[in-house]
Amino acid sequence: MCGIVGYIGYREAYPVLINGLKRLEYRGYDSAGIAILNEVSHVYKCKGKVSDLEKYAKGNDVSGHIGMGHTRWATHGEPNDINAHPHKSFNGKFVLIHNGIIENYSTLKDRLINRGYKFTSQTDSEVLVNLIEFLYLKGGVTAEVAVRLALSKVEGAYGIVVMCSDEPDKLIAARKGSPLVIGVGNDEYFLASDATPIVEYTKSVIYLNDQNVAVITKNELVLKTLKNIPLTPEIKQLDLDIGEIDKGGYAHFMLKEIFEQPRSIHDTFRGRVYSEGTELRLGGLFQVLPKLVEAKRIIIIGCGTSWHAGLVGEYLFEDLARVSVEVEYASEFRYRNPIINSGDVVIAISQSGETADTLAAIRLAKESGALVLGICNVVGSSIPRETDAGVYTHAGPEIGVASTKAFTAQVTVLAMMAILVGREKNILTEAQYHHYIKELMAVPEKIESILKQDEEIRKMAEMYQDVNNFLYLGRGYLFPVALEGALKLKEISYIHAEGYPAAEMKHGPIALIDHHMPVVVLAAKDHSYDKIVSNVQEVKARKGRVIAIINKGEATIKKMANHYIEIPESDAVFSPLLAVIPLQLMSYYIAVLRGCDVDQPRNLAKSVTVE
Ligand code: G6P
Repeated sequence: MCGIVGYIGYREAYPVLINGLKRLEYRGYDSAGIAILNEVSHVYKCKGKVSDLEKYAKGNDVSGHIGMGHTRWATHGEPNDINAHPHKSFNGKFVLIHNGIIENYSTLKDRLINRGYKFTSQTDSEVLVNLIEFLYLKGGVTAEVAVRLALSKVEGAYGIVVMCSDEPDKLIAARKGSPLVIGVGNDEYFLASDATPIVEYTKSVIYLNDQNVAVITKNELVLKTLKNIPLTPEIKQLDLDIGEIDKGGYAHFMLKEIFEQPRSIHDTFRGRVYSEGTELRLGGLFQVLPKLVEAKRIIIIGCGTSWHAGLVGEYLFEDLARVSVEVEYASEFRYRNPIINSGDVVIAISQSGETADTLAAIRLAKESGALVLGICNVVGSSIPRETDAGVYTHAGPEIGVASTKAFTAQVTVLAMMAILVGREKNILTEAQYHHYIKELMAVPEKIESILKQDEEIRKMAEMYQDVNNFLYLGRGYLFPVALEGALKLKEISYIHAEGYPAAEMKHGPIALIDHHMPVVVLAAKDHSYDKIVSNVQEVKARKGRVIAIINKGEATIKKMANHYIEIPESDAVFSPLLAVIPLQLMSYYIAVLRGCDVDQPRNLAKSVTVE
């Protein structure tokens, strides 16, 4: 949450910072600001989006070659001009941007107030910049020493960039818990919360680790620990193209990402399926495969959409590999007293690789001695670096706040893992193993055929744009898809929606059904098909409006439903990958018709780096 950027070099900093903030806006968008050092530091900040900041800064002096920018997702203090970052220190010596939470800010603030400091904002970040300044002035130390001293006194998480007007040739950056990437150019450096603002300038990057401090001048970067131990920066090459982070002609990133799924799923299994589809290999798991195969239990952890993918994983591992699985919200798991045995394998799922609760749950699992694996999309993010091994989803950058292609890529990885373990355990016969691989390889083409119904789905959305509630029902593999469909609608259209296992409807939700209530029924042909037919009848008998997701050629539900969308037949194992597509499109169109900001829905952020 919150996006931070920094620049030092020979270019004008302003356009670099503004473009960078636009790329990071998915991380938070309730206020934005920049500071540019040009003899003195000029700070411009306001409530609203980066486009509002541009309007605000227009006509002002934004010249200079050193600067920082911030796009905020409020934690301490409401979104307004004053609470927006950057924050200037009381005596004006320091300017800071911060992503994270300073947990002991209140104690530190009281101490600073006792020493005469005055505060203008309600933020924890202003406490940090004042603490840095206080230690700087009191100790007569350098800016870097003051930053390190201050950070040794704070509890919580931070990714920060600091400028000091007495040392106008440098940026100081540090991280603990919140991501920071440094782009290395020729006589210039870029700083950002992720690599997307950097890739158009350089592909050479350094990922800061926790407790790292970087002191950066235009032609030198000094990396050290908080305790002043020198470190050798490890420069990595980005595998990211600028085209991947543009809308590519689509009205929204979300729509682009929905339409990318045939390609992104293909990219997820590309290089992992061999010999014309008869062999499956997951290089990232090679060393740990024996342990995964012997696992007594698998515990899957994640948040939001990643947790829904985990639920599909439960069905997959139980079905194909006969191993018992528990799926946990990372946020609950970390604060329970979970029983984790050494024979357990924990799988953490995360698109961003930065979700604070998932990271904390991973640390807890590691302490217990379990093997911890990751399924992540963002290469080089914190979760892949903290897990023992794992599999990247390779879905490409996902920028729309509502997750779409990351979900299908996560399910694809889980399916590959379950098939692999099932085969190693001899649960799957050779023929079944090949059957599943072939079915997986057929998924992208099947999704193409669903995407062709885009216009029908848009027309259908017109009829439901004004409703207040939605119910989503599914059974078996399609129950998690019902949850995911409801979440998508809630997130971007602000319509209340609930996902339920279809059979549970009669234990409560059925009381809600009347002629106002649209019920989305996921009814692919599997062993529970007849039961779903009965559920549809129960909804119809109470005058509910049924939107059915059915297989091509299905006749019974088609006749009963008010609307239907056909998806190709597949093995039940892969039905989530198909059934979720029309739900994503329907949510998208309903949200667009309601005039909602699809890519940046209110109150949400894509990368949740606070608990
Ligand atoms: C946020 C996002 C969701 C995402 C969840 C987990 O809530 O808005 O789209 O599913 O975080 O994020 P992760 O990056 O760990 O998958």
